[in-house]
Amino acid sequence: MLVPFRPESPRLPQQPGWDEELGFHYRELDAFWLSRWTAESGWEPGQLYEHPGATLELSLGANVLYYGQAVFEGLKAYRTREGKIVLFRPADNARRLQNSAARLVMPAPPVEMFLEAVRAVVQANARWVPGYGKGSLYIRPVLIGSGPVLGVAPAKEYLFYVFASPVGQYMGGDRVIVLSSVHRAAPYGTGSAKVAGNYAASLRAHEVAREQGYVEALYLDAREDRYVEELGAANFFAVMSDGTLVTPPLGSILPGITRDSILTIAREVFGWIAVERPLPIEEVLTDAVEAFYTGTAAVLAPITVINYRGVDHPIGDGKPGPRARKLRQTLEAIQRQEHPDPWGWVVEVEL
Ligand code: PLP
Ligand code: COI
Repeated sequence: MLVPFRPESPRLPQQPGWDEELGFHYRELDAFWLSRWTAESGWEPGQLYEHPGATLELSLGANVLYYGQAVFEGLKAYRTREGKIVLFRPADNARRLQNSAARLVMPAPPVEMFLEAVRAVVQANARWVPGYGKGSLYIRPVLIGSGPVLGVAPAKEYLFYVFASPVGQYMGGDRVIVLSSVHRAAPYGTGSAKVAGNYAASLRAHEVAREQGYVEALYLDAREDRYVEELGAANFFAVMSDGTLVTPPLGSILPGITRDSILTIAREVFGWIAVERPLPIEEVLTDAVEAFYTGTAAVLAPITVINYRGVDHPIGDGKPGPRARKLRQTLEAIQRQEHPDPWGWVVEVEL
């Protein structure tokens, strides 16, 4: 059921205690935003609805239930030291949603509509943005094919909605495993789109990795089973013995916004050599002095051990490295307006 959100809508009784471990969970906040697309009328203006108890009503024939027309995004709102609320590169998420949608033949919201929805959700839930240094508000824009189909075909009706949850660190572990029996994405498949099915396909590998004591699977390419691609929900970087920062090239990996930011920071803030090139797993195991993963949810976390063909390989001296730490500190400083932002990545939300 959907109830429009109004100034007089009942508010949830209390804020979570920010000093508790926030974790990474779905929470109902005060409001979320939704719009519908139909072939006849295009996108309706969209509006906020009450989030507590909100559910979607879907036709039993909705495309998303069978043929998987579902793409999504993840971005964060941060509280600065002065108490402002800022977003990080939200227009890049809007454009990536458009690319993901095109891959699944879905109409995507225009960038301005995406930004308006994100701003409205942050403004309505501003009291849920954790205090400075206490986590962030994770924002989840979603686009699904809601119209009914029977044969394999795109839906004729779509829903675009945006909700948010306060979160702390996601994943955070530093041991990953290459599983011999699974790939994430094939060449020309859907790896470069943020489609829900990629994550369904990764659940088994994630479970096996966890059972064996690793935080996540590290995927190799599907053609040769040799080149590192990424983790299930984060991009991969290595620092080689000559100091070069290397990350796998775009193609079947998700074009991470954090990945792009880290490449830019490495080159333009630190003057390091940072390259995108195919990266054989053996080279990582024999030559990398540091490795780490990046993502909106994960931020940037070191990898100290990679299990490959049943053997644990420490990376470098097996401890988190100085370059990963410097990059994370700088990224977080930029995201909280404590470091110059010549790229215009940080966008303030009016309160
Ligand atoms: N790779 C995958 C498969 C992901 O799910 C994510 C998270 O969105 C990333 C990489 C990192 O992307 P970003 O930095 O834009 O969050
Ligand atoms: C993100 O970093 O935004 C992700 O999408 C990770 C995940 C929770 C799917």
